[in-house]
Amino acid sequence: MSPIYASPLVDEGYDISDYTAIHPRYGTMEDFNRLLEEAHSRNIRVMIDLVLNHTSVLHPWFTEARSSTTHARRDWYIWHPGRKGRKPNNWLTNFGRSAWKRDEATGEYYYHSFFPEQPDLNWRNPEVKKAMFNMVKYWLAKGVDGFRLDVANMLFKEEGLTNNPAWALVSDRNVYNRNQPEVYELLRAFRRLLDRYPGRVSIGEIYVPPPGNSRLAASFMGNGQDMLHMAFDFTLIFTRWSACAFYQALSKYYRVLPGGGWPCFVFSNHDLGRAVNHYLFPIDKEKKAKLLATLLLTLRGTPFIYYGDEIGMCNRHIPRSRIRDRYGRLLYPFYTGRDKARTPMQWDNTSHAGFSPASPWLPVHRNYRQCNVASQQVQEGSVFTHYRKLLQLRRELPVLQQGTIRFLYKRQAGYLLYERTTDEKCCWIALNFSPFVRKVTGLPENEAMVVYHSSDNRRMCGRATFPLRLFPYEAVVIGKERTDRK
Ligand code: NOJ
Repeated sequence: MSPIYASPLVDEGYDISDYTAIHPRYGTMEDFNRLLEEAHSRNIRVMIDLVLNHTSVLHPWFTEARSSTTHARRDWYIWHPGRKGRKPNNWLTNFGRSAWKRDEATGEYYYHSFFPEQPDLNWRNPEVKKAMFNMVKYWLAKGVDGFRLDVANMLFKEEGLTNNPAWALVSDRNVYNRNQPEVYELLRAFRRLLDRYPGRVSIGEIYVPPPGNSRLAASFMGNGQDMLHMAFDFTLIFTRWSACAFYQALSKYYRVLPGGGWPCFVFSNHDLGRAVNHYLFPIDKEKKAKLLATLLLTLRGTPFIYYGDEIGMCNRHIPRSRIRDRYGRLLYPFYTGRDKARTPMQWDNTSHAGFSPASPWLPVHRNYRQCNVASQQVQEGSVFTHYRKLLQLRRELPVLQQGTIRFLYKRQAGYLLYERTTDEKCCWIALNFSPFVRKVTGLPENEAMVVYHSSDNRRMCGRATFPLRLFPYEAVVIGKERTDRK
C-alpha cells in the first residue's frame, strides 16, 4: 500500500504528519485493522510504505524543530545558517531546484530532498533513529507483513555538505546527498529489528536516474542476509525494447546480486509510469504486454505487478486543469507529472470504470470501456487471462519460483532465451522482442512440452514442434522433466 498515514497530501501522502494515524480520507485505524485481519484470513499479506527520509512540515517534530535554534528537536532535521548570506551548498531536489529552504522563524535553512513541505530528517541523530524504529515496531506489532522503504538510498547526506560537482548537477547525479556509506549500517540495524518478527520483509526503493544502477541497488542488500531483503532496481524500466538490451541488463543484474540475495522485478510504478508506455508502444501493445508478463513471471525473483498492468492499463494524458501531482503543476508543460499512471483501476465499463460511485481525484483512462477487468475476465486471449495463466503456471511449477536461471542468448537473434532448472525439471522461456518471425535454436527437442503460449488462439499448448518459430512479440514457455539426473 502507498502511504495511508495522516498527511497534508502535498506529495500524495509521502509527506507524513503522523506515522501512527490513518488519513481520514482513507478511513480509520479500525478500518486498517480489519483490512489486515481480512487479508490475513485469505492468506494475503499486507506491506506498507515506510517513509523514513522526511516528514511533513506539519509533523509536530518539525513544528518544534523550527521554533528555535535551541529547541531539543532542532537537530532532528538538517539545518544550516547559510554561507555568507547564501544557501549552504548547491544540492538540488529531485526536480532540479535548490534543496534548501530558508525558514522565517530563525532565518536558517533546512534541507529537503523533495518538496519544501517535506523536510529531511537527520538520521545522524540517535533520537531520530529511536523514534522511527519505535514507529516501525508499532506497525510490526500490529501485524503488517513488511515495508517498502521509500528512497532507502537517500537517508544520509554527507556531513560536510560538500558541493556536488557541476557534472553531477546537470546529469541529476547526486554525489554527496545520496548513497552515503552510513546508510548501510542503518539498514543492517533495520534488518536486525525486522528479524525479531518472523516472516516480515523489506524492499527498498533505490532510485537512480536513467540508465539505473543495478550494482548500487544490489549493494543495499548487503551480503544478501543482513540488509534489505530486496531492492528495486529500475534499470529494466530504462532499458530499450530489444532482446539484446534486456539480456545485457538482466545478466548484469543477476551477476551483481550478493550471494544470498534474492532478486525482484518491476516494470511500472506510480512515479515512472506504465510498462506498456516505456517500450515503443502503442503498436502491438497487447502482445508486448503479454511478453512482459511472461518475462516478469518467469524470471528468478519476486515479481511486482503494479495495479492495472494485469489488464494492460496505459498512461493517461491528464489535462492541465486536472493535474494533481505538484511536479506536474510546477514543471508543466515540460513535464506533466506522475498522475498519468495513477488513474483509477478499471474494473468494468460502468461510470468511473466501476472504481467508485463518486468522481475520482483523477480522470479514468478513456479506454476503460474495452480495457477493464470484467470484460477481460471472460475474453480468451486477453492480457488479464494471460496474467492468470502465468500466475497459475508459476504456482504449479516450482521450477519457475526456485529454479536457477541461465541465459542462452545469441547475438542478433532478436529473441531472449533462458533456462530455469531444478533437480527435477527444466523450463525454457523464449521471448521474441522483434517484429519478425524468429526461429529459436538451442532447445531440447524430445519430450518437451509447450506449457504456455502467448498466442493461444493459434497454437495450443502440448508437445512442442521443432524448430520452434516465434511470431512477432510471441512468448513461449517450454517444460521438460529432467532425465539426466535419474
Ligand atoms: C519516492 C516515491 O515513490 C515518490 O512518489 C515520492 O514523491 C518520493 N519518494 C518522496 O517521498
